Amino acid sequence: MKPKFIAGNWKMNGSLAANASLLQAVLDGSKGMNCQVAVCVPSAYLAQVQALLAGQSLIALGSQDVSAQEVGAFTGEISAGMLKDFAVRFAIVGHSERRQYHAESDAVVALKAQRALSSGITPIVCVGETLAERQAGQTEEVVRRQLAAIIHTNGHCISEIVVAYEPVWAIGTGLTATPEQAQEVHAVLRAQLKAATSHSNRISILYGGSMNAANAAQLLAQADIDGGLIGGAALKAADFLAIMAAGSKTA
Ligand code: PGA
Repeated sequence: MKPKFIAGNWKMNGSLAANASLLQAVLDGSKGMNCQVAVCVPSAYLAQVQALLAGQSLIALGSQDVSAQEVGAFTGEISAGMLKDFAVRFAIVGHSERRQYHAESDAVVALKAQRALSSGITPIVCVGETLAERQAGQTEEVVRRQLAAIIHTNGHCISEIVVAYEPVWAIGTGLTATPEQAQEVHAVLRAQLKAATSHSNRISILYGGSMNAANAAQLLAQADIDGGLIGGAALKAADFLAIMAAGSKTA
């Protein structure tokens, strides 16, 4: 069985001082952990965090986005090639906050995943339904549509991605999907990936949305939950370490 993958998404939080003390505490507490870990940091701090993570292999560096364009006149964008310069291994694409506040379509998200893959960066592709969509019984349809766009654009490279199921109503709200609710959607995504590639067992499907120290073990124990994408709880070393420990136990 592959190790669980615990990825922190710092969102637009941090400072030079806060990042240094958070990472130091996480590194200090991480001895003996048996899981894969990444921190997806604001772009402004990539160089700092790259330096802080140098010389160790447990925690990999990630970004929170990547441009769908390769190079050129795209003010404010950051290309996959630039991320590669900072040894970025993972890039979150299609986070619901990007879909919502930056109007990113399924097609744009698929292109972002493609750009990341072509630079050797693993995209962490986020899918998830809103509360209204869940209440209308459309959860499966929505996540399948979002993932289908990625499969369609990325073809045989699809086994190189990571998927994160993040119900929008659970992000930053303290409302977590129950382990059963999450597992149900993960099984749908797993089946869709299986139909797309014979290497689907390589693909980790993470759960994200108010995962914390108290609920991580139960979520990570589900058959198709291969890890977590952690927002708020990734900003507190003790909480992030507790989730890493839960991931190490269920590996
Ligand atoms: P949360 O965020 O853990 O704060 O709910 C998760 C995410 O948005 O990736």
